[in-house]
Amino acid sequence: GGGTALRARLLWFDADPAEEGEARAVRYVADGIVVVENGVIREVGEAADILRRLLPDTPLVDHRPHLLMPGFIDPHLHMPQTQVIASYGAELMEWLAKYTFPEESRYGDPAVAEAASRFLLDELLANGTTTAGVYCTSHRESVDAFFADAGRRGMRMVAGKVMMDRNAPAALLDTAETGYQQSKELIERWHGKGRLDYAITPRFAPTSTEAQLEACEMLAGEYPELHIQTHLSENTAEIAFVRKAFAWSKDYTEVYERYGLVRPKAMFGHCIHLSARERGALAAGGATAVFCPTSNLFLGSGLFDLAGMREAGILAGIATDIGGGTSYSMLRTASEGYKVLALAGQRLPAFDAFHMLTAGNAAAMGLDNRIGRIAPGMEADFVVLDSHATAAMRRRMERVETLEEELFALIVLGDDRATVATYVEGRRAYDRALPARTLPPR
Ligand code: GUN
Ligand code: FE
Repeated sequence: GGGTALRARLLWFDADPAEEGEARAVRYVADGIVVVENGVIREVGEAADILRRLLPDTPLVDHRPHLLMPGFIDPHLHMPQTQVIASYGAELMEWLAKYTFPEESRYGDPAVAEAASRFLLDELLANGTTTAGVYCTSHRESVDAFFADAGRRGMRMVAGKVMMDRNAPAALLDTAETGYQQSKELIERWHGKGRLDYAITPRFAPTSTEAQLEACEMLAGEYPELHIQTHLSENTAEIAFVRKAFAWSKDYTEVYERYGLVRPKAMFGHCIHLSARERGALAAGGATAVFCPTSNLFLGSGLFDLAGMREAGILAGIATDIGGGTSYSMLRTASEGYKVLALAGQRLPAFDAFHMLTAGNAAAMGLDNRIGRIAPGMEADFVVLDSHATAAMRRRMERVETLEEELFALIVLGDDRATVATYVEGRRAYDRALPARTLPPR
């Protein structure tokens, strides 16, 4: 077929080969068209140019005056925490014991995991998020349910079975041996199937024995191309716990280094209280630090040092961390990120923020060869955003003069109400004008 064409104001970010490090070139086409065929981008450019050569029977969706960007990428969230979100009054360790572990204990039931996966994926799409790094629970059933649903929708997803063999209720514990075996079975079943990738997922050092971390090391060695995801240095009580549980280690990061888990495509959630040595170790390993601002504020964990990460040469992403985090919206997440950085005297300009939500998070997940930009050959996942979605936004936009001002107000005032449509592999997977779940299945 001749594909499908989408017309809108296009915004994305290319790496700028003329510059180093975090440099990115802003690409903005005020009246642009992106042509999609077989789930990938065939071409992108000025509408006037593309209309001249577009076959007359090519379906064209006109999203003007809205903005079309690469679909948002959320590199860290927990599928089984959609009913933990907004639990009152605890810091990390108490929050886990009191709310999160009891809730996750229900996810051996496939029906529970299926309902949560469906809700989560619907909600991500309503917020313009098309790819995520996802923690399931320690139950195999939770991983099967999540991947099956994401696969049916054609979404690019990275997920894994949480490995945890101590310091949690029995219903959540695996063992070094079963954690290894079950992870391996799930890798063989799901990894590389369509757009699904498996992540080796030890929850965090406090819930794994040394034997389990050795099993993770073995898995990581057998599957060197896989993602790894875990938590690191989120909360001071957590850090003290690790210091006791791993007395041989000079700091938290060394525990993961010892077991070969600090490497490219290893995504460390939080990274708030890192020493200079730990930052150096993450940079040297090519690992990623993931900023989770709404979670860090909600759980009172601390302030992520984005400038410090960049100075150290660490790839940084930004994520919701549902359900320690409090919003599914990457716009809200960027807005809270702006405020966290403001408390430390740092700035997050609008272009940097949208770069992080798209190409930046794609790079942080090692997926920048497939998603995060609008360019021929890239996968056709998009979000269409309305910067005038609410009365407060319309009121503010009356006085906005530049694209950068508009984008900043969209971040600070926007949420799921700003999502006009979300596309997965070039198909409309969410449409603001339609009731939820009426869109045709893949
Ligand atoms: N550390 C270990 N598990 C978790 C979790 O589920 N959420 C957060 N925010 N931190 C963690
Ligand atoms: Fe988390």
